[in-house]
Amino acid sequence: MKRYLLTPGPTPVPEDIALLMAKPMIHHRTSEFKNIFAETVQLAKSIFQTRNDVVIFASSGSGAMEAAVSNVLNENEKAITINAGKFGERWTKLVRAFGANPIELSYEYGDYAKPEDIKKVLDNNGDVKAVYIQASETSTATYHPIDEIGLMLKEYYPDVLFVVDGITAYGAIDVKTDDWGIDIAITGSQKALMLPPGLSLLAISDKAKDKIKNTKNRYYYFDILGEIDAGAGKFTPAVSLVIGLNGAFKRLLDEGLENVFRRHALLSKATQEACKALGLELLSRRPANSLTAAYAPQNIDSSKIIGIMRDYGVEISNGQGHLKGKIFRIAHLGYFDKADILMGISTLEIALRKLGVNAAFGEGIKRAMEIFADE
Ligand SMILES: Cc1ncc(COP(=O)(O)O)c(C=O)c1O
Repeated sequence: MKRYLLTPGPTPVPEDIALLMAKPMIHHRTSEFKNIFAETVQLAKSIFQTRNDVVIFASSGSGAMEAAVSNVLNENEKAITINAGKFGERWTKLVRAFGANPIELSYEYGDYAKPEDIKKVLDNNGDVKAVYIQASETSTATYHPIDEIGLMLKEYYPDVLFVVDGITAYGAIDVKTDDWGIDIAITGSQKALMLPPGLSLLAISDKAKDKIKNTKNRYYYFDILGEIDAGAGKFTPAVSLVIGLNGAFKRLLDEGLENVFRRHALLSKATQEACKALGLELLSRRPANSLTAAYAPQNIDSSKIIGIMRDYGVEISNGQGHLKGKIFRIAHLGYFDKADILMGISTLEIALRKLGVNAAFGEGIKRAMEIFADE
């Protein structure tokens, strides 16, 4: 069966990138690889929209999240964690795991963080060292206003570090790392970067580096400053993935970042509008352009929709936590184009009809086609 991956990670890998990674192995201490690594770091700065240092770890995205806590916070230091979904909750768990004190600001799933709420916590806690947040909270398909939050921090709390997990944002959504004062920006390979899982990346400001120098928490492998000093990897880098990353960055820059962001916005609009035309309610109050989350119709378990779509070779994602069985999530980040959305929406419609939801049959795909045809 032909398979279609419409999940928010891993995402489809373009053939040219897969072929780059299939080349014979080279040694990681050769000048050939060191040059590729150095170039990849420079390309990463363009994708992050930053002048800051970039570190690449051989780990899934959570490895970079862990480094952004273990390297930065001393035991008992306070940090604000924004929990508006499963990945925000991970920040709280990580801060706690390293003996620091999370002040968790939680929001209902589907809601987004407000700069004034964060400011209020900071006004009442003079000793907070960092704010940890997602750009796009993948479990709810929500985009936090990180531009507003970053600018608020710059104005009122310039010493507080701003740490943004942009794992489903960078390479899909226009996140301006330096302009918005993001001190630690994080992404991972298996999302908009169109690669298999296995790499995480961080961009680190001088302010964050100064804090790391004065931190005595425990870590060994995830050593941000050690990686910067080492150049092409303190340990054995994931050679093939780094070569693939180099190609993926060039692909994105050849398309042009503005065009990449516009493509994601268009796919997002078509998916959201198609769901609404089918009478489905979106989960998010501030939807991200990287994926769409919608409630299943009343009395229908979203796992059934997902199961029928899988029978057609189309893989989408369930809800996480208490939303499992209630929502489904269709991704449109990375190597995605209009035809992917048309295929995904039409298969969704077939699944709904098979489950007895007939009223708006054909309306979703019609709306998506209109949006693409009239663009
Ligand atoms: C926003 C966000 N943060 C963190 C992660 C965790 O990344 P990983 O599973 O690569 O460790 C994910 C993965 O889906 C994510 O979407």
